[in-house]
Amino acid sequence: MSVFEQFEQHEQVVYFSDSPSGLRAIIAIRSTTLGPALGGTRFYPYASEDAALEDVLRLSRGMTYKAAAARLDLGGGKAVILGDPHRVKSEELLRAYGRFVESLGGRYVTAEDVGTSRADMDVIRRETRFVAGVSPSLGGSGDPSPSTAYGVYLSMLACAEEVWHEHSLRGRRIAVQGVGKVGYNVVKYAVEDGGAQVVVADVDVDSVARVVRDFGVQTVPTEQIHAVDCDILAPCALGGVINADTIPQLRCRAIAGSANNQLQHPEHGKALAELGILYAPDFIANAGGLINVADELSGYAPERARASVEHVYRTLREVFTIAREDHVSTAEAADHYAESRLERISRLRRYWVPTPSDTRR
Ligand SMILES: NC(=O)c1ccc[n+]([C@@H]2O[C@H](COP(=O)([O-])OP(=O)(O)OC[C@H]3O[C@@H](n4cnc5c(N)ncnc54)[C@H](O)[C@@H]3O)[C@@H](O)[C@H]2O)c1
Repeated sequence: MSVFEQFEQHEQVVYFSDSPSGLRAIIAIRSTTLGPALGGTRFYPYASEDAALEDVLRLSRGMTYKAAAARLDLGGGKAVILGDPHRVKSEELLRAYGRFVESLGGRYVTAEDVGTSRADMDVIRRETRFVAGVSPSLGGSGDPSPSTAYGVYLSMLACAEEVWHEHSLRGRRIAVQGVGKVGYNVVKYAVEDGGAQVVVADVDVDSVARVVRDFGVQTVPTEQIHAVDCDILAPCALGGVINADTIPQLRCRAIAGSANNQLQHPEHGKALAELGILYAPDFIANAGGLINVADELSGYAPERARASVEHVYRTLREVFTIAREDHVSTAEAADHYAESRLERISRLRRYWVPTPSDTRR
């Protein structure tokens, strides 16, 4: 396959290396149609360079759809640093990486992801302006997980509206798979604001003990959570949990959670629709964290960020309507929704508008 074929529809794919610090990184910019490409930096010991490239291209496509559907003025991109962060991460490596991000002139804005932390973003910021998710003392927005969880909770309300015509989760039974940073807060919203009955599972016994102590929820073994008889299943742990094995065992009426890539294959969205299970597409339901961090680019204002996260509810209602009217799955409707915004807004670029440097001449 030629290099260009491999890069599919990405605008730009950049490889960086800095031998003294051991940095080897790839930044993939899928689209800047709507604005600078914002996406996290994943630091991971990939089995090969091909595996790293495949991951960064896939993740940057996902960010493009997530930002477009969230109505942000942001494109989609992602970065990967190859290596084991526990072994090779250092100040000089992160600062070298920051300088490379800076060299792209703002076309790509980085943030935290698997293997990188807020403290790492603070280090990267010493070399580049184009980083979000830094510490609050540097103007950052803090941990995105509560905002992601708030978006998931609003997604559950949108599902309740669509399925039961009720704007409430009162008395609904909700099964949460994974009660880490996002799942814990999903349980909190569902119990305290929603009045729902919640059942949880997590491989980490301490995380389970914490939600039982704080919210008095029920628990089941991790291998049973997807098959619990419930109103809404909330995958908040891993991707690929909706697959050929689990679909026949599902006993929920709707699915709304934070995990990325919940459908193992796109056709599983259709399978859910055929079973009458309403699926809140992951990249819309889990956009709260991105919406919150994106607010930093305008000088972080918590109230404005929270109001923007509320778009998740309206967006999902629109996607459910498109799916109903066009007789497509909600997963397909979500893709169409994002693609249509990209296409409509790109048409605006045909108008020339003066920039400050043009008017100064
Ligand atoms: N943190 C965010 O703001 C954010 C934003 C968008 C998407 N997501 C996605 O949401 C998911 C959760 O993110 P997080 O930040 O809460 O991560 P986390 O690591 O804090 O929590 C994940 C939890 O899932 C548990 N888990 C792992 N395997 C499991 C299994 N087989 N069964 C049950 N539980 C299992 C872990 O023990 C952990 O407690 C991830 O898929 C992440 O990519 C997170």
